[in-house]
Amino acid sequence: MEGSSKRTLVLSVFTAVLGFFQYGYSLGVINAPQRAISVYRSGKSTLTLYWSLSVSIFAIGGMISSFTVGWVGDKLGRVKAMLAVNVLSIIGNLLMGLAKFGPSHILIIAGRAITGLYCGLSSGLVPMYVGEISPTALRGALGTLHQLAIVTGILLSQVLGLDFLLGNDDMWPLLLGLSGAAALLQFFLLLLCPESPRYLYIKLGKVEEAKKSLKRLRGDCDPTKEITEMEKEKQEAASEKKVSIRKLFSSSSYRQPIIVALMVQISQQFSGINAIFYYSTNIFVRAGVDQPVYATIGVGVVNTIFTIISVFLVERTGRRSLFIAGLIGMLASAVAMTVGLVLLGTFAWMSYVSMVAIFLFVIFFEVGPGPIPWFIVAELFSQGPRPAAIAIAGFCNWTCNFIIGMCFQYIADLCGPYVFTIFAVLLLGFILFAHFKVPETKGKSFEEISAAFRQKRRCAIIYSYGWFHPEKTKCYCSC
Ligand code: GLC
Repeated sequence: MEGSSKRTLVLSVFTAVLGFFQYGYSLGVINAPQRAISVYRSGKSTLTLYWSLSVSIFAIGGMISSFTVGWVGDKLGRVKAMLAVNVLSIIGNLLMGLAKFGPSHILIIAGRAITGLYCGLSSGLVPMYVGEISPTALRGALGTLHQLAIVTGILLSQVLGLDFLLGNDDMWPLLLGLSGAAALLQFFLLLLCPESPRYLYIKLGKVEEAKKSLKRLRGDCDPTKEITEMEKEKQEAASEKKVSIRKLFSSSSYRQPIIVALMVQISQQFSGINAIFYYSTNIFVRAGVDQPVYATIGVGVVNTIFTIISVFLVERTGRRSLFIAGLIGMLASAVAMTVGLVLLGTFAWMSYVSMVAIFLFVIFFEVGPGPIPWFIVAELFSQGPRPAAIAIAGFCNWTCNFIIGMCFQYIADLCGPYVFTIFAVLLLGFILFAHFKVPETKGKSFEEISAAFRQKRRCAIIYSYGWFHPEKTKCYCSC
């Protein structure tokens, strides 16, 4: 790849993942200013109500809008869709930034809801675009950048949320509305990004425009292989009717991949990672840490470092093995955390065990279960069903995130130091599922991945009809 096309690819991916940066910032920002904003409210129960609403309405916005990702992405095209939804982010952030000049609680809740709508759309459109413009050999590494953008956003919001920076009575509106700056930057940079060649070729049938866009992204590299692959996908898409969300579940061709797509999202959220992020300060207090805020920022730093490491690992080791290894590590850390919290009263040094376990939990998450779900869905489906699959997977991720956000504190109060055993049991289930069902997609074209699923299904049919005895005859397919 030559210099200018490399620059275009880097610019396009960077611009797109700014959407995920805003997602991460909005996730992390809400913890710090709670105390500062409370100055504006009287009465504890009213405050708790407004506060819980401000936190959860963000996820509700995301859940609702993630459903429309497929439609918006296909109707406007990937780049124009990202441009259009940016307006939501700018409005939402403005409302929060101006919260002091009006009824602050209403402006914050409205702003959080609108940025939630933005993040739901963005969390589908961005992986769709990045997956479609990346060369096969770099798809995993570039896909991991989604997670890197999220964790950078979380970390920046944690640091800026410190009292002596923006997390104080005077500056909190700026803290809340600051990611509008990233939205503005993304808006202008998007004007320079090429549309996805796959969208142009397969969806719109604009062959020449697709070739031009491919040339901007790949330079003088011979485009024949990619064009042939797109042509195959186009023929396949033409032979089937438009793939709706319902069809994804009713058609046997898509059932396997959609189950895998949903399960990886469920594993990501129900691994318990956001229990750490939303409530880390509380957990550190319980583990006997003196300065919990700084320990939380420490988690953010470790989180970012290991996401960077994962960018390099994912094209070497493969998605499947990293995903499983990460889940196993998280399971071991959840057990260690429980032991630490349970024995804290007996041995003071157990607070170190819990702390190390929290850090390891986050590290293992970032090695695989964090980044992989964000891009593997785009890999598991060809152009026809991809938008619908991304929409439903995004919806699933947001819903699980919302459930954890709403329920964890209650469950933690109920289970005390044993709360992480629930995640340990769930993690065990996810490991088994991943071992038996998640395929390796590293280095394979979209066409090869869907062909492997078709092959697997054919094999399953042969077995289920008992056309041969599985122990006496070999099935020569890649299942
Ligand atoms: C993933 C999750 C998100 C979580 C983040 C933590 O991106 O989707 O919910 O907060 O990882 O790094």
